[in-house]
Amino acid sequence: MEKTMGPAGVSAPGIRILGTGSAAPAQIVSNDDLTRIVDTNDEWIRSRTGICERRIATVETTRSLARAAARAALASSAIDPARISLLLCATVTPDQASPSLACFLQRDLGLREQMLAFDLNAACSGFIYALICAQRLLDPEGIALVVGSETLSRRTDFTDRNTCVLFGDGAGAAVLEPAPVPFFWSATACGDDDALSIREHIRMDGQAVFRFATKALAARIREVTEKAGRAVAEIDLFVCHQANRRIITHAARQLAVPLERFFMNLATYGNTSAASVPLALDEAVTGGRLKRGQRVVLVGFGGGLTSGAVYLEY
Ligand SMILES: CC(C)(COP(=O)(O)OP(=O)(O)OC[C@H]1O[C@@H](n2cnc3c(N)ncnc32)[C@H](O)[C@@H]1OP(=O)(O)O)[C@@H](O)C(=O)NCCC(=O)NCCS
Repeated sequence: MEKTMGPAGVSAPGIRILGTGSAAPAQIVSNDDLTRIVDTNDEWIRSRTGICERRIATVETTRSLARAAARAALASSAIDPARISLLLCATVTPDQASPSLACFLQRDLGLREQMLAFDLNAACSGFIYALICAQRLLDPEGIALVVGSETLSRRTDFTDRNTCVLFGDGAGAAVLEPAPVPFFWSATACGDDDALSIREHIRMDGQAVFRFATKALAARIREVTEKAGRAVAEIDLFVCHQANRRIITHAARQLAVPLERFFMNLATYGNTSAASVPLALDEAVTGGRLKRGQRVVLVGFGGGLTSGAVYLEY
């Protein structure tokens, strides 16, 4: 049920990433900066999470960050924006409920009106869910623009040291086309309001989320690599949701994979929810860590509770 298979294990069709882009607010907030507003310290945050600083929106909005990331992805893909026929935006922090972020982006980017454009909420798994939807919704001649954008700082309680040190703002995007290349996916959803929720503010039971995240990360990676007929050791790069260095380290140990195969940029951005995977993916590409032809597994986990992974050949 969770895979699209053609002959010889090749998905029909898969998706190819044509280009990626990302954007982040200008303001950098260090761990030391946070000690001035909440009872915390740099040593605690670094050792428990791996986070050193994060970007916090001042004048930026979820829409302006999404627009900047999308423009960068379109430029790197070198395709005519008029060809975009599917626009998916993953976010839990849209600037408003309606019009959707996707509709605003359609206008901001001057995209055609004959398209499907909508927002998707799967919290920190949002970009993974959106990639799966793109693969399943794209017409053979279509091109998809998939964006993850967040201003979590607008939902952060800066008096709650359990959460405010973890999150940051940013956006990432990818341009995709259908292609006869392998694509496999795995996803879960399970209603749970106690571990992690966002109403006015983000509320979290850190240890419950930690237990869920470590299990989900390893399980989704095992599932998609197995569907792809690959050993976990054959994956060139894992781009996981950037929540916590300890969660990724734990999963790497469980899977017996060297930690160097897990791309990490959480030290400079913190947890940017649906933006985290595409932001990391773009930095992996632009930094030369992910090269054409390499096997990559992208993984998300978070509120919902949700989790998801995709296997791609970049
Ligand atoms: C949040 C997290 C880093 C906390 O680490 P932990 O080792 O579980 O820490 P605990 O919650 O047990 O707290 C340990 C102590 O540190 C304190 N503490 C919590 N936040 C602190 C902070 N920012 N600075 C200093 N001390 C802090 C606690 O009050 C507690 O003190 P106590 O022992 O005196 O009661 C960890 O649980 C985690 O990463 N969970 C997953 C969170 C996540 O990734 N969420 C998003 C998923 S999408």
